[in-house]
Amino acid sequence: MKYTLLLFFILHAISSAAQIVIPSPQEIRSDGSTFCPGKTVTVSAPDTSTFYLTLLEKEVLPTAILHKSRFAAQADIRFTDDRTLLPEAYTLRVSPDGIEVRASGKEGFFYAVQTLRQLALDTGSGVAFPCTAITDRLRLSFRAGMLDSGRQYQRVATIKKFIDMLAMLKMNYFHWHLTDGLGWRIEIKRYPELTAKGAFVATGAEQQGFYTQDEIREIVRYAADRCITVIPEIDMPGHAEAALSAYPELSCFQDSVIVPETGFTSTIFCAGKLATIAFLKQVVDEVCGLFPSPYIHLGGDEAPKDKWNECPDCQQAIRDKQLSDSEDLQAWFTAEMAGYLKEKGRKAVFWGDVVRHGNYPLPDNVVIQWWNWRGAGDRALKEAQKRNLPVICNTNYYTYLNFPLHPWKGYEVNRTFDIRDVYLANPSYLPADTPCLLGMSCSLWCDYGVTENMLDGRLFPRILALAEQMWHPGELKHFDAFYNDVQQKKNWFEKQGFVYGPALKNENTNHPE
Ligand code: ACM
Ligand code: ZN
Repeated sequence: MKYTLLLFFILHAISSAAQIVIPSPQEIRSDGSTFCPGKTVTVSAPDTSTFYLTLLEKEVLPTAILHKSRFAAQADIRFTDDRTLLPEAYTLRVSPDGIEVRASGKEGFFYAVQTLRQLALDTGSGVAFPCTAITDRLRLSFRAGMLDSGRQYQRVATIKKFIDMLAMLKMNYFHWHLTDGLGWRIEIKRYPELTAKGAFVATGAEQQGFYTQDEIREIVRYAADRCITVIPEIDMPGHAEAALSAYPELSCFQDSVIVPETGFTSTIFCAGKLATIAFLKQVVDEVCGLFPSPYIHLGGDEAPKDKWNECPDCQQAIRDKQLSDSEDLQAWFTAEMAGYLKEKGRKAVFWGDVVRHGNYPLPDNVVIQWWNWRGAGDRALKEAQKRNLPVICNTNYYTYLNFPLHPWKGYEVNRTFDIRDVYLANPSYLPADTPCLLGMSCSLWCDYGVTENMLDGRLFPRILALAEQMWHPGELKHFDAFYNDVQQKKNWFEKQGFVYGPALKNENTNHPE
């Protein structure tokens, strides 16, 4: 009787949530039977020390005793090298006798384990898996999530949780916004005041603090284990009030700096002073030493030119370099900093603002992150394509997850959206063969005090639609079917520690914003 009830429970659960994987695999078939591993599970893999086996042990088979072996014969779970598969792709076969995973590298194996996490069903005395055949691969090779640690400081544990989430959703880049008007969060040994002062210019309890270089190295390693590259962003020349509070001599008029509670001011790094350019290059030196990422983000967004228009040094630079105006000076500044990164073999990512004015030539290592859909439509995308520069699509409609579902503080109704908007009307969801398309990103800015306890509710469940658009290589399923998956999977995501906020605007919900 007990056994029959247990079987009923397993089959029922298998017919629903345990067969749903988000983001959806390219192809998934189940036959209704199950695989129930014993208390002791033998696993074979090409390299038994890799992190995906740790993840398997911790997140998929937490109560089993795992024996790792390099030999496949008789293993219950077999990871097999298959060089015919594309990077990050995998196949997964669960049969009543065991599990076979094939991939051409650790990324594919890692994503297969992430899928197994979602398939595994807790039976109370162990786990069961629906017998399933999955073929899966990416849609976009660049899939990112950004967190704003400039305006709000998050604890290292929270950063790691964010990285865990990206990995769970098969994203491969963590864009870490480390500096803004309200805080400079990265320790730079050569310029200690950046953090001694610049990390403490805001007044909120969760706006105090910075990441030491040791913590940053630890986070970069933590992310690498999870197949995630950390892209640091040092925003320049704007959004720099925290840095300029520490070193006012780097601004145009060396005057006192007002740190904005929200938004940004016209106090920006002075591009006409050699000392400022030298300072920024020295910062970039340390940043490159900490982050092995091929991409380094240097901001470039929302840099008002009021001060540059008045500054004798900026105006002299415009004349010396035969530039037309202050916008052109920012283009020169962009090219100068990108060129510096090029010498180091890195690509330089900038927000789309840097291609929205004039035609100043930029080096070929520049990557454009298109964001300002609300203000400028697809101008930055089109300009980048004209210059043959790769584009990361991260439009504020609908990939800015700080925009709430309902008006909140500075977010009026025209800056709200729900999961249906993301799924059906996201301008960033472009065909994979769009010229110059590098990939897609989503951002969680922390304007108006998005504190740590609010992160999950802003991210979930809307980020599931974004993960689907980044990863799933086929046509998107009907929204109602996807939304049903999202609801069915709610318990599972919440069990992983990610509590859903509201999903639909018209949903009657008690969720806090
Ligand atoms: C941005 O939202 N200022 C990139
Ligand atoms: Zn100046």
